[in-house]
Amino acid sequence: MCGIIGYVGQQKAVDVVIEGLRRLEYRGYDSAGVAVVAGNEVQVRRRAGKLANLEKLLAEQPLPLSTFGMGHTRWATHGAPTDRNAHPHMDEAAQVAVVHNGIIENFASLRAQLEDGGVMLASDTDTEVVSHLLAQAFDGDLAEAMRAVCRRLEGAFTLVAIHAAQPDVVVGARRNSPLVVGRGEGENFLGSDVSAFISHTRHAVELGQDQVVEIRPHQIVVTTFDGKPADVKEYEVDWDASAAEKGGYDYFMLKEIHEQPKAVADTLLGRIDDDGHLQLDEMRLSDEDLREIDKVVIIGCGTAYHSGLIAKYSIEHWTRIPVEVEVASEFRYRDPILGRHTLVIAISQSGETMDTLMAIRHAREQESRVLAICNVNGSTIPRESDAVVYTYAGPEIAVASTKAFLTQIVAVNLVALYLAQVRGTKWGDEIIRHIDELAAMPEAVDRVLDTVEPMRALARELVDAKAVLFLGRHVGYPVALEGALKLKELAYMHAEGFAAGELKHGPIALIEQDLPVVVIVPPRSRKVLHDKIVSNIQEIRARGARTIVIAEEGDDTVAPYADTLVPVPAVPTLLQPIVATVPLQVFACELASAKGYDVDQPRNLAKSVTVE
Ligand code: AGP
Repeated sequence: MCGIIGYVGQQKAVDVVIEGLRRLEYRGYDSAGVAVVAGNEVQVRRRAGKLANLEKLLAEQPLPLSTFGMGHTRWATHGAPTDRNAHPHMDEAAQVAVVHNGIIENFASLRAQLEDGGVMLASDTDTEVVSHLLAQAFDGDLAEAMRAVCRRLEGAFTLVAIHAAQPDVVVGARRNSPLVVGRGEGENFLGSDVSAFISHTRHAVELGQDQVVEIRPHQIVVTTFDGKPADVKEYEVDWDASAAEKGGYDYFMLKEIHEQPKAVADTLLGRIDDDGHLQLDEMRLSDEDLREIDKVVIIGCGTAYHSGLIAKYSIEHWTRIPVEVEVASEFRYRDPILGRHTLVIAISQSGETMDTLMAIRHAREQESRVLAICNVNGSTIPRESDAVVYTYAGPEIAVASTKAFLTQIVAVNLVALYLAQVRGTKWGDEIIRHIDELAAMPEAVDRVLDTVEPMRALARELVDAKAVLFLGRHVGYPVALEGALKLKELAYMHAEGFAAGELKHGPIALIEQDLPVVVIVPPRSRKVLHDKIVSNIQEIRARGARTIVIAEEGDDTVAPYADTLVPVPAVPTLLQPIVATVPLQVFACELASAKGYDVDQPRNLAKSVTVE
């Protein structure tokens, strides 16, 4: 949601902070700011808009030299994205500065108390309230002041602060919102995620819920909000700075689309042990626990929700356990029927999506078991789950999710096979065969990437299209939803995905001359499904639609009805989303680029939505 970095050490703080903000900008880019301590006061520079605006301001009004400081790149929640609402925020005496990620739900009452006490607030943000509270609570120890203030706050927050009277100390706190420590040599870092400091150190310290951390050049102290020493978990970050660079591509999204064969291969690595049994990462659920499961509920948001829809087909097919799939933000408000024998599977690339995090907390309160499928080691959702299957897609920087989606599909198939293995609904040789089918996916995706040029050309042709519809059946329906989401979030176009069979129940009224309609065609081996969707294609062509057909190589039946035919390798039905989605990712990326939009950081969005 927002990107935060804190630094203390020997380097020029502004340089470290700006570099960190550049790596964090994908988390939000409505404004950016930096704060250092100089002399006996805090000095801040901040600007609305992208980081480049702040860098321009710093060139015009440089900050004094300091070896400790902090920075923030914002995704606006309270208060418009203006200079006055940009972080960091300070108290009236410019003694303390604070940056924040999340929402302070009781800020209105706290603001009223401050104003009643004569404090003049300068912004519309919830964050500024904290700067005044910290100034009032400060009695020589910023960490103690932070603990006192945190005990008064409600909601989700990551806070990082500095005080003019405490040089060489940066203090952070977290509740429900991400913050990680980077341990360096004679320097230490705080970051919303490890990309903030990955070019300086890969030694990370995971922070838990309701903890305060103070960093000095040679010291890291972590306590609870009550001041008790807290246990922390140290780990090595499993990717390096170059992995977070564009690698010669124009956009991170393009790079990540082309990393998909490797991401899929890496997610499959080491999953089979010497006895031919499937192994998952942190399976802290016993076989007995899993044999007692009588219902699976999958939760996620956006793209992660779509991979959950695909998971339903695999898990039900291989285990015969009933599966429900829920949008995380709706899940806990519908009073779901959960219990000890329910397995909740939470899918999240970032592991920090607040809607998903709050959903799994609700599930655990109902004694359900929770398994997380996540792409970020040490993030909050896996930490609060009973079991974890990590996708190994590497850092996904572009806001629009691509390789995470494909690796989530792989992961949910691994979970389905693992459940079948434990519950005996699949023999070992069947599981090995399915794993072999999965092992062929990296090469299949590679082949798709070689044949997507027609989708690029088509995207440039459709740069002025007003809308695009997407149709699919069976696992092709979630692919249609995902294709529509990509186009919405990248090209800001009206795009909608439908179950193809649903078209005749209303949406077919949308069909008009030359309206582009993308159709994901099931494998010919699913003859009934295949024939029905061919009929659907004929129905829309009869009404003037421009048909863009994603179909198996050699599918001659559908070819005559395709204005644009995009062949994909023939793969098993349940794995077709892995190859069929790639042309849709390329299509959306190219269309956004043709429109001159920011492909990696689309308007109004952020990579990880850490507010409900
Ligand atoms: C997908 O392209 C979007 N960026 C968005 O829908 C995303 O999938 C959603 O916010 C969930 O994020 P998560 O996987 O990190 O939980």
